[in-house]
Amino acid sequence: MKTTSTAKWICLMIGLTTACLAGCATHSAWRAKCCALAKSDGGVLFGHAQDGAPVFIYTLRNKNGMEARILNYGGIIQSLKVPDRNGKFGDVVLGYDTLDGYLTNSPYFGAMIGRFGNRIANGKFTLDGQEYTLATNNGPNSLHGGIKGFDKVVWMAQSLQTPDGPALQLTYVSNDGEEGYPGALKVKAVYIVTKDNALRLDYTATTDKDTIVNLTHHSYFNLRGSGDILGHFICINADKFTPVDSTLIPTGKFRPVKGTPFDFRTPTAIGARIGQDDEQLKFGNGYDHNWIINHPMGKFGLAARVTEPTSGRVVEVWSTEPGLQFYSGNFLDGTITGKDGQVYQFRDAFVMEPQHYPDSPNHPNFPSTELKPGETYKNAIIYKFSTE
Ligand code: BGC
Repeated sequence: MKTTSTAKWICLMIGLTTACLAGCATHSAWRAKCCALAKSDGGVLFGHAQDGAPVFIYTLRNKNGMEARILNYGGIIQSLKVPDRNGKFGDVVLGYDTLDGYLTNSPYFGAMIGRFGNRIANGKFTLDGQEYTLATNNGPNSLHGGIKGFDKVVWMAQSLQTPDGPALQLTYVSNDGEEGYPGALKVKAVYIVTKDNALRLDYTATTDKDTIVNLTHHSYFNLRGSGDILGHFICINADKFTPVDSTLIPTGKFRPVKGTPFDFRTPTAIGARIGQDDEQLKFGNGYDHNWIINHPMGKFGLAARVTEPTSGRVVEVWSTEPGLQFYSGNFLDGTITGKDGQVYQFRDAFVMEPQHYPDSPNHPNFPSTELKPGETYKNAIIYKFSTE
């Protein structure tokens, strides 16, 4: 009995070591780390980042069969399988089958976004009287954390079992000055596939100097699995939104949605008014705007609900954040071939990013995105799936 289990253990160790050596042979600097990770947390090697760091994929599956596959590169949700009204599981997020696509050409598919979700005008802001200049990557502006944001870094991963369901904890320390941001920022993101078919994301961060933070998540959803999303119905819990200029920077005003194509207070097809002759829709080439969510900031509230009539799938977005960026996939243009050879065409997905308002550091009238030493930044997001 003892001999058999020892033999099994030796075989397991040899197997793991062989797999690691094979995977990391050309990446010796990372070999020790790779082996340690592979042995400890259940991730499967998915490839290597540009610097040779091993990237693993982790599968979280609940008892109902809902499954999320997550990379420790960019905190990317590579696939998310939820049932339709007949119980048939389908992948409801866009992405790639292999790491290469994520490394070379990804419009933030499924990614963790930081340090600052959305745009900062001209990549500049002032904090404590000092002006900071960020890496710009979107015309004159800095978008989603700059050139190498949190979507493009390798995170430390640890699998966890929580009372709510299987989880993956990702941690990353962003150095003082990374992409131009002040302060060393320690970030933790916990992804949970809950018993009630929700994907829950809990973000926390601390800093050693005054800084700004605005983390969010960037899955491209298609509840039907393919085709355009214009027939999805969306309801957004917001009476106002923040109108933008032609570079998608908020003007600083809050505009009532009433009487505009931005009124989603009752379920409306995404495509119903997207083609209207409206300056804001022209600036975004569709919806690419921040809605001011009606619930009190810091408390969980329903931000949006989307239904897809043919599959019956429903996703509700709950969050503690004051804003929701709803983006209707207007920059998808048929040039990306993703999972299973699917070509992603114009508006084949939508993104719902709970966050503080874009360019907050340059708008004193917006809720603050400042974080000071001793404080803990917290942001919790739930994408809850069901059918009807
Ligand atoms: C932004 C879009 C941008 C997209 C990048 C969204 O969060 O609002 O303007 O093009 O991310 O894929």
